[in-house]
Amino acid sequence: MQPKCTAKDNIREAVQQAIAIVESNLSEYTNLFQDSNTVRQFYQPVGNREWTTGFCTGEYWLSYELSGNPAFREAALVQVVSFYERIQKHIDVDHHDMGFLYTPSCVAAYKLTGSEMAKKAALLAADNLISRFSEKGQFIQAWGAFGTAGNYRLIIDCLMNLPLLYWASEMTGDEKYRRIAIAHTETSLCNLVREDNSTYHTYFFDPETGRALRGATQQGYRDGSAWARGQAWGIYGLAVSFHHTKDSKCIPLFRRVSDFFIKHLPQDSVPYWDLDFTDGDDQPKDSSAAAIAVCGMMEMAKYLGPAEAEYYREVSSKILDSLIRNYAVCNRKQSNGLLLHGTYAKSSPYNPVSDRGVDECNTWGDYFYLEALIRLTKDWDIYW
Ligand code: GLY
Repeated sequence: MQPKCTAKDNIREAVQQAIAIVESNLSEYTNLFQDSNTVRQFYQPVGNREWTTGFCTGEYWLSYELSGNPAFREAALVQVVSFYERIQKHIDVDHHDMGFLYTPSCVAAYKLTGSEMAKKAALLAADNLISRFSEKGQFIQAWGAFGTAGNYRLIIDCLMNLPLLYWASEMTGDEKYRRIAIAHTETSLCNLVREDNSTYHTYFFDPETGRALRGATQQGYRDGSAWARGQAWGIYGLAVSFHHTKDSKCIPLFRRVSDFFIKHLPQDSVPYWDLDFTDGDDQPKDSSAAAIAVCGMMEMAKYLGPAEAEYYREVSSKILDSLIRNYAVCNRKQSNGLLLHGTYAKSSPYNPVSDRGVDECNTWGDYFYLEALIRLTKDWDIYW
């Protein structure tokens, strides 16, 4: 662990510190983007590829909203052009992560500036996303060639891709996007949430019949464990589903998924990369899971009764306080990210991934940390 930062005991200072780092990144990451995770705590500049570049632009929009500094707006609008080109030329978009890419970049741009290019780009991304919807299985296929057995599955992360579809229906008046978002949510939730309130990361279906087959992990420790970030995507995914649908089924599921997450937090309220692990297990943390869960609980608290809302606000404040005190980057010498101790992927004997971005910053951890801070700073109009 890094030494505790001093003078970080309030949100205002945490915001100023974060914005100063984001501002110092502008010159290097406007025409290029930050890579998904840092290497030895520093991001390399990369082109617009992978599922994560939208978080860089999203940080610029959040920083613009927090500071009013037009330099953030200008940089974000430069990046919008890159997102428009990426979807038009179909560069690295054969997957479901259109929401992660286009919501914090282009939907945010449209909401904040009315940019027609951003609107067009995000609508093209929504069309691309629904092209991966399987009528037979009633879900959006996450990765790989469409409809093939080894790839015929959904993943919990996709709940955060769906706000793009609700937005596309609002923009176009065409209900098809919303219908697909709702169908995918139903299929996800009835298969991914286990009896004990933990969640599967991914779920396979039969491509011939569409029948649900089995849960499996990709990035968690084992098939039957709860990958910390997956559980957090579930928390925020349920909150945004309720935000868009007001479907009352989301609320008890949100309680179940959140309560499992909360019960498995270690001493400092920031989870290890898989909720199988706790203090003393000598495993890395995933601070990004904490930041995502904080945003989800703060969002859902808007819709709950006063006592329950207070409970989730208190829990999320406690987690955020730990992030500010123990995980936030103090200055640019330490890192050019915002949130230390994230884990992109950690190999285990039971999962197929290799180690990547272990005990590093990652762009979504930085983005959701800043989103958590803006939520406590102003009456923030959600991008998702
Ligand atoms: N959505 C991919 C991840 O959370 O790593």
